[in-house]
This record gives sequence, structure tokens and C-alpha cells, in this order.
Amino acid sequence: MAVRTISPDVYSIGAVDWNLRLFDALIGTPEGTSYNAFVVRGTERTALIDTVDTRFEEALLKNLMKMGVSSLDYIVINHAEQDHSGSLPLLMEMFPQATVIADEKCRDLLGRLLDVPEDRITTVKDGDTIDLGGKTLEFIIAPWVHWPETMMTYEREDGILFSCDLFGAHLATSELFVRDFAPITRPAKRYFAEIMMPFRSSAHAAMQKVADRDVRIIAPSHGPLYDDPSLILDAYAEWTSDTVKNLVLLPYVSMHGSTAKMVSYLTDALIERGIEVQPYDLTTSDLGDIAMTAVDAATIVIATPTVLFGPHPAAVNAAYLLSALKPKTKFVSVIGSFGWGGKTVQHLTEMLTPLNAEMIDPVYVRGYPTAEDLAALNALADTILKKHEDLLTQP
Ligand code: FEO
Repeated sequence: MAVRTISPDVYSIGAVDWNLRLFDALIGTPEGTSYNAFVVRGTERTALIDTVDTRFEEALLKNLMKMGVSSLDYIVINHAEQDHSGSLPLLMEMFPQATVIADEKCRDLLGRLLDVPEDRITTVKDGDTIDLGGKTLEFIIAPWVHWPETMMTYEREDGILFSCDLFGAHLATSELFVRDFAPITRPAKRYFAEIMMPFRSSAHAAMQKVADRDVRIIAPSHGPLYDDPSLILDAYAEWTSDTVKNLVLLPYVSMHGSTAKMVSYLTDALIERGIEVQPYDLTTSDLGDIAMTAVDAATIVIATPTVLFGPHPAAVNAAYLLSALKPKTKFVSVIGSFGWGGKTVQHLTEMLTPLNAEMIDPVYVRGYPTAEDLAALNALADTILKKHEDLLTQP
């Protein structure tokens, strides 16, 4: 863990987790991640902004020692999730005189998650400031980017927005600042899709809230920093908007080839109509890739055979994921095949209800698809085309 200077008297001292491949036992992190923590030194006082995952707490302490920080006046906790707050108990032990700063909801969560006594935490409200001496920290309450208690901290003099999870990326890199957005686009979008997409409107609101600030550096709590904030702000403006693309996300699973045949046929039918399509075999695909495609897709079609009396479990998993991530998708449908009966379409339709998307008539057939069944897929492709044209030509 290296100490790096962000601007005069502002340092990045967090941890790079090069080898993490599964975050929260839930999210794939093929490129690792980082837990960013920062020190802001004023002429009078010193603040630590966020901590690190407990696996790196000793390294965080070593960095503070390396910097000659023998006392901390403030420990600011922007977010109670343990990847950022986990080392707080140790830091409170090592720096007993430090005032812990958090918003009210965060104080409650820190008590429940880390057993931090409430009376050790000073709560702040939106717009409150602390003066470190030539460095002013302003607290911006930004709920639901990622949890209900999330907060951002803005250092006024240098224009640094410590944005917590917002604008982050699960990426282990030696680069402090993003120099070229092209290689960061995938991890940043993947992070948005998996972490922020369910809170799209909250992310948008948080962006509006800081729009009048002179933000010159964005310092999220995961991944590299931005000294050209427009790179990530422009991307988020698109991702958090209601705009979708002429794109169909087509996650599928097939057992004996019938559903695979339908997926292949529908894929070609969509391409022939000028619609972009991305099929994903659920037995081999990464759910993060599916989530990323869902950021933009106007339509999601889930393809599955019937297993016993309902959808294949892989399709259930995909439908659950998509309904939880709440992409801005406007249309959904189901295709697949069955042998003798079941309630697959009904089951998936109910699962996809949280998307508030229009259900296009499913194409669910018995056995291997016949010519008539393939014609129904052509009709489905025609319907999707018409829906997309109507949607995308709206003023
Ligand atoms: Fe990176 Fe919501 O914690």
C-alpha cells in the first residue's frame, strides 16, 4: 500500500486488493478492487476520510505511521459498509482522541454492525462543515448511493469530492488518476450495473446536489480517482438517464436444444431487423456481463425450457438478478419450450414485475420448434422492432 499525493496535503492511503475475485460473496471482481482512504491535513487539524476492509487495517496504520500522523483529529465515515468502515474500531483504539464524524443513520449502523458506541460519534447534517485550517470539509448527505446512510465529503479549497461508493470501480490498479477512460469504462460500468443501478435515481439526485460545486477531483472509495471529473460524470449522466438503446439482452439456458434453436433463430431475426442483440448462455456467462448489458437494453428476453413445472433455475437466477438491479429496460418477454406443461411463463412474468416493463407476448412452444413456432419468433422480432422504433423516435 503506497501513500500517494492527490493535491498538497491531501493523500490517498488506502489498500489495493489485487486478488479479490468475489466481493461480498456476491459480485465477481475479475480485476480486483481497492478500498480507498484519504488523509486531509490542515494547518490546525488532520482528518482521515474512510477506512479500509479489516484485512488491510494493519497496512492502513502503517501508512499513517509512514506519513508521521501521530494523532488524528477526525475520522470521517461516509458509509457504514464494512469495506470502508471495518477498520474503524482499531483506529478508534489507536487514536482515542479522534472525533468520529458520521451522519445520523450511519451512526446507528456503525453501532449495530461494529458495536461502536453512539456517544463516540459526532453526527453531521447536510451542509455542515469542519475547518481543518486552510482545508474545509463539507458533508453532503447522499442517501442510497449505496445504502440509506451514505454521505459524501467535499474538500472545498482543492475541489475534491470524496464520493464514497458513487463513481467507483472494482479495479486494482497502480494508477492514482484515470488517464484514459477507455480501459476504465468496463470496470466502471460493471460497478454501476451491479452496485448503483438499483439506486439510479439516487445517484442522479446526488449528482444534481453537487452540480454547483467546483469539483476538480472525484475521489471514490473504489478504483482510481478522476482529475478530469467529466469522464465519469458524462458516463453517469448516460447510465442514470432514462435513455435506452436499440438493444435486446437475451439470457438463455437450454437442456436439449429446443430453446437454443429458438435463441439462435431470434438472434438472427433481430439482427436482420437492425436490432443489436446480446445472447448470454447462462451456464457459462458472467452475471456481471449480463448486468452491464442491462444498463442499456431496451428489451430483455429470457429464454428457458421448463424444468419440472417451472423455469430452469439458471433462468430464475437471472430473472431475480435483473428484477433486483432494476435496469431501465422498457420491454420484456419470454421464449422457450416445454414437454408436457408447467407455469414457466407465469412464473417469470411475476418475477419480472418489479421492472415495470411492458410484457410482449411470449413465444413458448411444445418440444422442438416447428416452422410455425419460428414464424412466431419472426413476429416477436417484428413487435420488438416496432416498439423500439416508437420508443426511440419519441421526441
Ligand atoms: Fe464499497 Fe457499499 O461499500
